Amino acid sequence: MEDINGLSIPSSIAIIMDGNGRWAQKRGLSRNMGHKEGCRTVEQIIEDCARLGVKYLTVYAFSTENWKRSEDEVTGLMQLFRYYAGRLLAKARDNNVRVLMIGDRSRFPKDIIASIDRLESETAGNTGMTFVMAANYGGRDEIRRAAARYAMDAKDGKTDPSELTEEEFSEYLDTKSIPDPDLLIRTSGELRLSNFLLWQCAYSEIVITDVYWPDFDRDELIRCITEFNGRKRRFGGV
Ligand code: IPE
Ligand code: IPE
Ligand code: MG
Repeated sequence: MEDINGLSIPSSIAIIMDGNGRWAQKRGLSRNMGHKEGCRTVEQIIEDCARLGVKYLTVYAFSTENWKRSEDEVTGLMQLFRYYAGRLLAKARDNNVRVLMIGDRSRFPKDIIASIDRLESETAGNTGMTFVMAANYGGRDEIRRAAARYAMDAKDGKTDPSELTEEEFSEYLDTKSIPDPDLLIRTSGELRLSNFLLWQCAYSEIVITDVYWPDFDRDELIRCITEFNGRKRRFGGV
């Protein structure tokens, strides 16, 4: 862990970025305007986390359940993704950030899949923070896909189910190279996981802030990290 002014900075942080819609509604704006503001926050928080010495930042951008939203909202989110993919690439280059995607990307339009591939390949050599974007991600869906791949390997004789360990199974998850979150932040005051990183958050410290995601900033991040610093992690021990 990095140490900033006596504060230990968790090396792996995950964020459920929630409240874009309510942020917009409060201002009489469309939900999509809230998402646009939310994208600005993502850009800023990537930079803040990288500078604070966070090693892994994982954000929940779009869940496997978010397809249920109106066509207008889903289309708006796809458009934002197209626009921000380019900005994200520049941001990653400027901050030596490596970008990874988790989730089932096969359901996205072809051009978005191509820009995800490009973000990953062009930043693969960056040695600073790893920024992980969860898109069309669901914890259950991830575990289902991992179990299916594991079963295929077992059928092919490549692995023996009677010897399966948690470590081996973790290798089949989308997050295989990403450490479990030390700190999980959810904005907008909701007290639930909404299918995010179900396996990985087994022992994450959860901090909930009432701030809507578009209003989340470095000060709020520091407040969340300060709350994390006051926690005693036991991992089942005493
Ligand atoms: C989070 O904000 C962003 C996504 C889920 C894409 P919401 O859109 O869920 O905002 P609220 O919860 O309706 O305020
Ligand atoms: C979780 O937020 C998904 C993302 C932040 C991408 P939701 O707004 O979709 O979650 P619920 O519906 O309130 O549980
Ligand atoms: Mg929400």
